[in-house]
Amino acid sequence: MVSWKFTLIMRIDVITCLPEIFDGPMTQSIVKRAQKKGLVEIYIHDLRPFSDNKQKSIDDYAYGGGAGMVMMIEPIDRCINNLKKKSTYDEIIYMTPDGDRLNQSMCNKLSLNKNIILLCGHYKGIDQRVRDHLITQEISIGDYVLSGGELAAMVVADSLIRLIPGVLSDESSALTDSFQDSLLAPPLYTRPAVYKGWEVPKILLSGNDAAINDWRYEAAIKRTKDRRPHLLD
Ligand code: 6GU
Repeated sequence: MVSWKFTLIMRIDVITCLPEIFDGPMTQSIVKRAQKKGLVEIYIHDLRPFSDNKQKSIDDYAYGGGAGMVMMIEPIDRCINNLKKKSTYDEIIYMTPDGDRLNQSMCNKLSLNKNIILLCGHYKGIDQRVRDHLITQEISIGDYVLSGGELAAMVVADSLIRLIPGVLSDESSALTDSFQDSLLAPPLYTRPAVYKGWEVPKILLSGNDAAINDWRYEAAIKRTKDRRPHLLD
């Protein structure tokens, strides 16, 4: 048996002006177990202490006018530099609705990194010079606008962590996820075999593994055709 225990696989540093948001999702379930097993370390960094003014402000009015505040470059640069003193980073990722739209193949690639930074945007946006000079990648989780990058950063973190070998108890289960082979997952059933007259497909009760695999494959193709036809192209 391969032992993944005590091998640190990944380190994720999150930069945010709302660190409390991460208390819930990042301390539950699979992500919590992955941290306990030492497979991932997650550090949440509050941006505000990196401000150098008395009010600890991290945003300011946009040059040229217009509604909405802009996150300033200085606290972000300081925070990133502080992190870089202790680690080297494979990617410094800015979470933004106009970034590259996340999909499973991006998750797979990202999960191979050792150290990444996720920078959460807020207010109207951040000073473009952060994006031009400090960021290596920009990610969106879909074409809709969230009030900040925090939820999106948690989506990215969760999707990467579950791909780290040893995080899921059955290692094959991340590979049989929807999207992993460009197919959606087939329908699943558990006991009872009949509920209110609604039956489980007989083939799944047959014990014939080859026939079950065929059925699942066909069902996955059908579901993909119906719901995500572009995946079959
Ligand atoms: Cl990464 N940030 C925000 N604010 N909204 C989003 C997003 C990110 N991805 C989709 N919508």
